[in-house]
Amino acid sequence: MSGNQTFTMIKPIAVKNNYIGPILKLINEAGFRIKAMKYTHLNKQQAMQFYAVHADKYFYEELTSFMSSGPIVAAILEKENAVADFRKLIGATNPEKAEEGTIRKLYAESMSHNAIHGSDSDENAIIESDFFFSKTERY
Ligand code: GTP
Ligand code: MG
Repeated sequence: MSGNQTFTMIKPIAVKNNYIGPILKLINEAGFRIKAMKYTHLNKQQAMQFYAVHADKYFYEELTSFMSSGPIVAAILEKENAVADFRKLIGATNPEKAEEGTIRKLYAESMSHNAIHGSDSDENAIIESDFFFSKTERY
């Protein structure tokens, strides 16, 4: 059985472009409830730690510089089948390949500047949520 929570970040480019409101509206309309939320700013070291799984990739430096370049919105979201349904709502990593109506299709600029993060498994949803939130910050 799949879990009912996932973790997301509205990435620096989407915050900068003033898309927090429209993105949260789509998330709510898709049936997700917000269990925790934080407007924050990762430093380079934190971004490197968050994306450590990509440490050996050619885009790691660009990815972690970008993710620490400005404020983000981090949140824990709840819904049945949360991880898979949220990945569907955000669309493909490359926004050129994202389906119509998905968050990345609507608000991403490029592969690097792709507007939003979504956990890729229940296990990672927990790890990523724990990275930003203590147990008492979840409702
Ligand atoms: P996240 O939700 O941010 O984790 O994206 P994802 O799960 O759709 O993709 P993945 O975890 O594989 O990669 C993390 C991030 O690295 C992506 O969101 C992209 O911004 C970036 N990335 C992934 N693959 C590539 C690539 O081939 N080229 C470049 N330039 N960036 C990439
Ligand atoms: Mg990923």
